[in-house]
Amino acid sequence: MLIELRKVDKIYRSSTVSFQALKEVDLSVEEGEMVAICGRSGAGKSTLLHIIGCIDAFDGGSYCLDGNDVGKLRDGQLSKIRNRLIGFIMQDFALVPKFTVFDNIAIPLYLGDIKMRKFQSAVQEAAAEVGLSGLLGKKANQLSGGQKQRVAIARAIVNSPKIILADEPTGALDAATAGEIIRLLKQQNEKGITVIVVTHDNTVAAACPRVIRIGDGRILSDEK
Ligand SMILES: Nc1ncnc2c1ncn2[C@@H]1O[C@H](COP(=O)(O)OP(=O)(O)OP(=O)(O)O)[C@@H](O)[C@H]1O
Ligand SMILES: [Mg+2]
Repeated sequence: MLIELRKVDKIYRSSTVSFQALKEVDLSVEEGEMVAICGRSGAGKSTLLHIIGCIDAFDGGSYCLDGNDVGKLRDGQLSKIRNRLIGFIMQDFALVPKFTVFDNIAIPLYLGDIKMRKFQSAVQEAAAEVGLSGLLGKKANQLSGGQKQRVAIARAIVNSPKIILADEPTGALDAATAGEIIRLLKQQNEKGITVIVVTHDNTVAAACPRVIRIGDGRILSDEK
């Protein structure tokens, strides 16, 4: 099993209050699946995705990622595994506005241990897959929403990850552009990459063979 969460809890704490955002979440995802995670605002979707992506810690339970016991790893080991296995598409694109398309796509390469001379071809290949080849020199803040999301996808795949995690990748896009983005994610999945996509959008969910619904920090249903 590629992803295996067992009774995972997440509690956000401040000095005065604590809030349990995930409650005993059990979730297994096999390599090659394409899964939608749906639920209302505040249900815990982003929290769950951040834990799966090892960018947030969990409280109770266990998480095994590609054979690694995530709760037992040190920070350094965790960021290596994350960089190698996971491409993240954030809720708000999270591009660096003044960087060019090329430099935005290259960010994970700077953080990993790929050789400099391989940068160019890795970035060009990722850009070509999402139809951005002509825009590599353009600044991110000069792009349309759909183009920005393509950059975010290219950045997520530039390291050849096993897993793509996408948080509301179509949230800010019109229906036609959203359809294009989903097609690109499906294309990655057809190459064998595991895709997990958080969405409010029923047409996005309908494009995924497996749909998990969460509410109030719990898994409500899980249907294939
Ligand atoms: N850093 C935080 N500190 C305290 N509470 C938080 C924090 N982040 C999220 N929460 C709370 O945890 C719950 C789940 O948040 P989360 O962001 O996972 O929801 P979501 O399902 O992604 O919602 P949306 O669809 O609006 O993005 C919410 O009630 C939210 O207020
Ligand atoms: Mg969210």
